[in-house]
Amino acid sequence: MTRLAGKTALITGAARGIGRAFASAYLAEGARVAIADIDRAGADAAAAALGPACVAVEMDVTSQTSIDSAVAETVSALGRIDILINNAAIFTAAPLVDIDRAETARVFDVNVHGTLFTTQAVARHMIAEGIQGRIINMASQAGRRGESLVAVYCATKAAVISLTQSMGLNLIGHGINVNAIAPGVVDGAHWDGVDAAFARLEGKPPGQKKAEVGAAVPFGRMGVAEDLTGMAIFLASDEARYIVAQCYNVDGGQWMS
Ligand SMILES: NC(=O)c1ccc[n+]([C@@H]2O[C@H](COP(=O)([O-])OP(=O)(O)OC[C@H]3O[C@@H](n4cnc5c(N)ncnc54)[C@H](O)[C@@H]3O)[C@@H](O)[C@H]2O)c1
Repeated sequence: MTRLAGKTALITGAARGIGRAFASAYLAEGARVAIADIDRAGADAAAAALGPACVAVEMDVTSQTSIDSAVAETVSALGRIDILINNAAIFTAAPLVDIDRAETARVFDVNVHGTLFTTQAVARHMIAEGIQGRIINMASQAGRRGESLVAVYCATKAAVISLTQSMGLNLIGHGINVNAIAPGVVDGAHWDGVDAAFARLEGKPPGQKKAEVGAAVPFGRMGVAEDLTGMAIFLASDEARYIVAQCYNVDGGQWMS
């Protein structure tokens, strides 16, 4: 299909997992894609595997210099940026009494400040070029409610939902739609880390947390990255032109809002 023919997308954290699946799906819809990641080797490998319509870009969303150069590099390679997906994020878990200030700042820097200032840099480009762009933020079910051992990550994802609302209201005046996707539990490297964290914090055998969360999903299993690609394509497509500042749950029925 060619729902994104002629479009260009910058996807952060696209070397693996959900971001890489988004890149693959966008390419299949006719877009050209910049696979941006702090993991340069991973971005290179993903770009090589996905073919000539994508480029690898080194990008650390916690560094303004890196954000600015990644945006400039993407514009230089692809000509313009029509779509941004703020997908890069990191996870942390600890009981409240053990939460570390430096670790908290690190996670907020990637998940919240990274989303905000990457959006700002790309929005400046879109506004300057008169691009009716699309920006998609990766929120989470974790941003819909708290979790006993996951206070910091949950707070960052609640902030992403709030930013989506404010940025969406601000940028629609420039013809730029900002929306978010809130996945539930999606298997992959991220959840390997979550499972390991719960094994450490709750004494569960490896794999048990994944089995528990998968069994609790009304759909009947954990998600896979490809379960999310339809929403990412839709939000970037012309069909979504009247959707502004919303956050969509794509989670197998876990959260209702
Ligand atoms: N996997 C899930 O169950 C799940 C659920 C809800 C929301 N999400 C969200 O979906 C998004 C993708 O999740 P995933 O499972 O693919 O995660 P992942 O950990 O597999 O991939 C994250 C990518 O981000 C990159 N990254 C980390 N720090 C970066 C930085 N400073 N600058 C640029 N890139 C950086 C990593 O190198 C990695 O390639 C994240 O925003 C995550 O919070 C995931």
